[in-house]
Amino acid sequence: VDPEGQAAFDAIIDADGRIEPRDWMPDAYRRTLVRQISQHAHSEIIGMQPEANWITRAPSLRRKAILMAKVQDEAGHGLYLYSAAQTLGTSRDTMLNQLNTGKARYSSIFNYPTPTWADVGAIGWLVDGAAICNQVPLCRASYGPYARAMIRICKEESFHQRQGFEILLTLARGTGEQRAMAQDAVDRWYWPSLMMFGPPDGDSPNSARSMAWKIKRFSNDDLRARFVGMLVPQAEALGLSLPDPDLRYDDAAGRWITGEIDWTEFQEVLAGRGPMNAERLRRRNEAHDDGAWVREAAAEYARKQAMSDGG
Ligand code: ACO
Repeated sequence: VDPEGQAAFDAIIDADGRIEPRDWMPDAYRRTLVRQISQHAHSEIIGMQPEANWITRAPSLRRKAILMAKVQDEAGHGLYLYSAAQTLGTSRDTMLNQLNTGKARYSSIFNYPTPTWADVGAIGWLVDGAAICNQVPLCRASYGPYARAMIRICKEESFHQRQGFEILLTLARGTGEQRAMAQDAVDRWYWPSLMMFGPPDGDSPNSARSMAWKIKRFSNDDLRARFVGMLVPQAEALGLSLPDPDLRYDDAAGRWITGEIDWTEFQEVLAGRGPMNAERLRRRNEAHDDGAWVREAAAEYARKQAMSDGG
């Protein structure tokens, strides 16, 4: 306990300032940030897989170039976020090891399969749309390196969301078969995208403290409702329906209310029993092993550089 450090920390949080890496901070604040930022980084890295599945089969050269750029952006987001987490004193090796051994969480959404090209559109529209909704407020998170990383990430996510919308729009205006493919993808991704915001507020153990520390600015349910409100007019513009017959605007509450979310499915995915959990982890480890020669070469290069600097 450091009363002076605590008082300085509280004053910065109260004034809506930014905590920086060298500032004193409570251990629990540091742990919460490492947890959230590393989970977020892992999500970006695992999130490359469902869409990379379509790079070799994208329907045109233009679509392929866009998709490759998008998947590379996800890798970049992972790297900014690992860097932000490293400023809190946890090494990248430790975090990657937690991911590769299945000890770390990453977003539930990336444990679903991408059987058709329309899934690339649905991921852009729904998954990246949900990500933006959740992440724009994180640009104001109280930890400086995290907030700054989020600004750039959100700009790129906006582009991702639009490219997904445009894929769905093209399919929705295409043949009957293409329209059906787009609707089927939206039907499969809608509910999992709502689960991305996390458990309902009453079952969210971390929310109250993270909001008091101004890491989170809105509750899981508030962001989920905001997201659905964005989707409704966009689905209309696409001419596609949301698979939620109970979805309605509640005038008294002033917000959108969705049908019942299947939280058992969410818990199953978190427990590692989603449709693609095992495959995602297997592929992650394969990619890590395939990259061993790059890490060895980089280390050898650094060693030689250090030797020539010294001599
Ligand atoms: N998938 C996997 N785990 C989840 C999810 C989810 N969709 N939602 C919540 N959880 C986990 C939490 O990590 C927490 O687990 P832990 O205590 O073992 O770490 C537990 O469920 C309880 O949830 P909360 O108390 O609500 O946790 P928290 O306050 O951290 O809120 C949230 C969860 C909203 C996801 C928050 O961590 C966040 O905003 N993270 C940053 C954004 C992010 O990670 N996005 C990743 C997907 S988007 C993308 O990469 C394109």
